[in-house]
Amino acid sequence: MVRGWGAGHTVGMQHLEVVQGDITLQALDAVVNAANTSLLGGGGVDGAIHRAAGPELLAATRKLGGCATGEAKLTPGFKLPARYVIHTVGPIWRGGNHNEASLLKSCYRRALELASQHDIHTLAFPSISTGVYGYPIEQASRIALKEISHYQKTHDEIKLVRVVCFSQTDLRTYQRTRKTLNV
Ligand code: APR
Repeated sequence: MVRGWGAGHTVGMQHLEVVQGDITLQALDAVVNAANTSLLGGGGVDGAIHRAAGPELLAATRKLGGCATGEAKLTPGFKLPARYVIHTVGPIWRGGNHNEASLLKSCYRRALELASQHDIHTLAFPSISTGVYGYPIEQASRIALKEISHYQKTHDEIKLVRVVCFSQTDLRTYQRTRKTLNV
């Protein structure tokens, strides 16, 4: 195992990165969208992805009949540099006793399973549920990094996962969590 330095580290020929940036600019096989159950767009990263992808994205998501919390659905990326968008719906934080942790874990897992099913080898995640949906980012980052690194260990077809944090503060949290978990 060759350990990389800087934004990520390498396990075998696989890579996990935590960076600060704009997910709509990621030229990877897929970007993951933090959507809502209607899949008809919204604010935050959902709004940014729909704006960057163009109106064909909404035309495509309209046909999907929505998405349950914790589930994930696939569309093309249209005008995005990424080939695909994996839409997933995170849990709304309600204090932590409403299955939020397992639903958030399911978002990461289902998105990665969809990637494996569709020959997607490189993908970017935003910090799901930690904006409008109010999930405390420290706990959310642990779930995210644990689930991603666990999945990569058992699925070598997933070559690169890049967690794209929008703010410096979020980046610091994810970097701290990655050190604590040693992933
Ligand atoms: N690139 C990367 N991350 C981004 C971007 C971007 N361009 N824009 C926002 N983010 C970050 C936010 O800073 C936050 O850390 O994405 C994370 C998730 O925040 P939200 O977009 O608010 O998503 P979420 O908390 O999952 O709430 C979903 O918000 O936009 C609506 O339609 C969406 O109803 C759904 C809800």
